Amino acid sequence: MQMKLKLTVAAGIAAIAGLAAAQEVVKIGHVAPVSGAQAHYGKDNENGVRMAIEDLNKAGVEINGKKVKLEIQAEDDAADPKQGTAAAQKLCDAKVAGVVGHLNSGTTIPASKVYNDCGIPHVTGAATNPNLTKPGYKTTYRIIANDLALGSGLAFYAADKLKLKTVAIIDDRTAYGQGVAEVFKKTALAKGMKVVDEQFTNDKATDFMAILTAIKAKNPDAIFYGGMDPQAGPMLRQMEQLGLSKTKYFGGDGICTSEIAKLAAGAKTLENVVCAEGGASLEKMPGGAAWKKRYDEKYPGQFQVYSPYTYDATFVLVDAMKRAKSSDPKVYTKELIKTNFKGITTTIQFLPNGELKNPAITLYVYKDGKKSALN
Ligand code: ALA
Repeated sequence: MQMKLKLTVAAGIAAIAGLAAAQEVVKIGHVAPVSGAQAHYGKDNENGVRMAIEDLNKAGVEINGKKVKLEIQAEDDAADPKQGTAAAQKLCDAKVAGVVGHLNSGTTIPASKVYNDCGIPHVTGAATNPNLTKPGYKTTYRIIANDLALGSGLAFYAADKLKLKTVAIIDDRTAYGQGVAEVFKKTALAKGMKVVDEQFTNDKATDFMAILTAIKAKNPDAIFYGGMDPQAGPMLRQMEQLGLSKTKYFGGDGICTSEIAKLAAGAKTLENVVCAEGGASLEKMPGGAAWKKRYDEKYPGQFQVYSPYTYDATFVLVDAMKRAKSSDPKVYTKELIKTNFKGITTTIQFLPNGELKNPAITLYVYKDGKKSALN
């Protein structure tokens, strides 16, 4: 009798162990800067993926009739192109099923080749340089508008709506900053605006007095800045110090953060900012308001720009796996191009080159330190 009981217990333990072993773990990689001056963007992006994984696991994910557990493998590229490719290689070696990222165009473009070489798809919800999709990799997808839309949308607004005549352009010489500034410049010139000065900085700088002084001598109606908020914030403060208090300040999604209001540290020039983001405003997104409420409860004070997109990007990967009945990138990658997924940001479908079909753009200004949508 005792013998029989022991056997039954042993069989039960074996069965439970077997069950646990049978539940496949599907790893989703995420890469963004979570250290350094851009860490606030990266954490927001990573939070989006974490929240998606939590929601998906809670609801239960079945692939080919088997329940799977999703796990994140989060990497830091510190917004540095070399660290970006190293992180991509690490995720290839770890055999993640797919990747959400990266955040910066400067890291995403070189990383996209690494993912293509190892055959793992990545979906970015943040990198906006149009060149990302030019090589035509079947492993590269973007679920946000690119800088052709952002740069030209801002130039149209400057010329047509605000009737500005002259602009000085600054960029941080990154793939993103340089790219978005070029698009703005081209469109502004086509609209008859004059580019009175062009200056350059880098994505580590915090002192812009020399270039702003040079620009002040040209007295432009506006400055366009191609870059991110760790530079734009101090630049706005220094513009105030130099008396550039009437100069409009344009920039793409990289400056369109919650953080810029903090970094501008009370400078009145924040009110001159007009920035563009690739997507509808949260208020206009199909599930935006309810989603944002849940996000803020989980990650108070951490919302920046792209977490709704990294959230959706995670669902897009898992949706393709479900349709392919496999989490093997060799099998499911070809399903990504056929995506027709109702996300919280929009209904996601792709063009043959991996760009989002029909992307929206939204312009924002800052009122009393709060970012508010113009359209
Ligand atoms: N949109 C920014 C970039 O492409 C974050 O780098």
